[in-house]
Amino acid sequence: MTVENTLTSKDLLVLLRGVLLGAHATPLVLTATDEEPVVTVSVSREADASTAASAISHGLPDGLELPVIIRLEGAAGAVTVKAHHLAGAVAVPDSRDAAAGRASSRAGVVAGRIALVTGGAQGFGEEIVRALHASGAWVFIADLNLSGATALAGELGERATAVECNVSDEDSVAALASTIVDTCGGIDLVVSNAGIARAGSVLEQELRAFALSTDVNYTAFFLVTKHLGRLLRLQNIAAPQCATDIIQINSKSGMVGSNRNGAYAGSKFGGLGLVQSFALELVDYRVKVNAICPGNFFDGPLWSDPDNGLFVQYLNSGKVPGATTVEEVKASYEAKVPMGRGALGADVMRALYYIVEQAYETGQAVPVTGGQVMLSS
Ligand SMILES: NC(=O)c1ccc[n+]([C@@H]2O[C@H](COP(=O)([O-])OP(=O)(O)OC[C@H]3O[C@@H](n4cnc5c(N)ncnc54)[C@H](O)[C@@H]3O)[C@@H](O)[C@H]2O)c1
Repeated sequence: MTVENTLTSKDLLVLLRGVLLGAHATPLVLTATDEEPVVTVSVSREADASTAASAISHGLPDGLELPVIIRLEGAAGAVTVKAHHLAGAVAVPDSRDAAAGRASSRAGVVAGRIALVTGGAQGFGEEIVRALHASGAWVFIADLNLSGATALAGELGERATAVECNVSDEDSVAALASTIVDTCGGIDLVVSNAGIARAGSVLEQELRAFALSTDVNYTAFFLVTKHLGRLLRLQNIAAPQCATDIIQINSKSGMVGSNRNGAYAGSKFGGLGLVQSFALELVDYRVKVNAICPGNFFDGPLWSDPDNGLFVQYLNSGKVPGATTVEEVKASYEAKVPMGRGALGADVMRALYYIVEQAYETGQAVPVTGGQVMLSS
């Protein structure tokens, strides 16, 4: 999708969503339908993104109520969609209004929004998917593990869509963006969460393991921001007052080095460099780009899987002197955290809701470490 060249049908859909977002200031969904259109809007072949947005805007009647069936005609063909709000969708207040300071429920900021969570099939990603869905968002669960993502989407029911995706493969990420447009017409919140840990000594680690870590934790954030950010830019052309979010799930290892874990920490430090740089560029389109840096999720599968979890591995390798059970290994790690426990999904969600609600911050990293790693430490 490009702003410069001939607009595709998908570009026009995203622009239509942007126009409706701008008019209603409330997130909405565009779903393909066979129903008879109430309104038909045409965009000329020569139109660029701004002229197409104004053609769409002028083609829609004043005071158009949703739901409504709209036929959109452009050089690349025609498509008919139903534009509707999801239950509970609330207007996104302009932060300059006094009323914007009286949000009653922070989780409500995502109600009715369209969200993507990469690596959403398990671990922190699954926690984020469940919380966003429970808060009223439509959630795309993008994962290499399609069966896990499909099972989770099936359990959640409506407003949950599983998509197979390898975030370190550009074609796969581009196809993911395309699927999101086909299904919902656009997106409001991108959570780049997929990540892997490949620990190892710098003196011993295979280049392959180092490169894999870099591909999934670092390069993939570039790909996700490139392909999903283009949708956010197009929407913003049509709805300049609406802010959207890209949030990277980073790590406490993005703020302090990690012994024999350089591939991971390096990729996470690099991630914060990308967050800051992308934030500076995408602020022009009111896309906020921020990171959350959680501490260890001891209750998640990475640590607690009974067969391959890190606690079992550390027990078997004798990494914690004197520990004879998984519980003792876990207790020794919890003791390193001033607040005495690992990070939980709910801790990450509080940071996520804060970032989405906060209209006046971008390029930041929000630590959620129970005091284990502090800024500038
Ligand atoms: N677990 C922790 O203690 C911890 C702490 C701080 C930060 N984090 C970060 O949180 C994020 C999630 O970690 P987790 O512990 O929940 O991991 P996890 O291993 O439990 O889950 C990761 C998910 O990502 C998917 N995935 C892996 N590679 C992928 C790829 N190339 N494309 C698409 N999906 C892919 C996996 O299939 C899996 O569903 C990561 O970015 C990680 O660095 C984790």
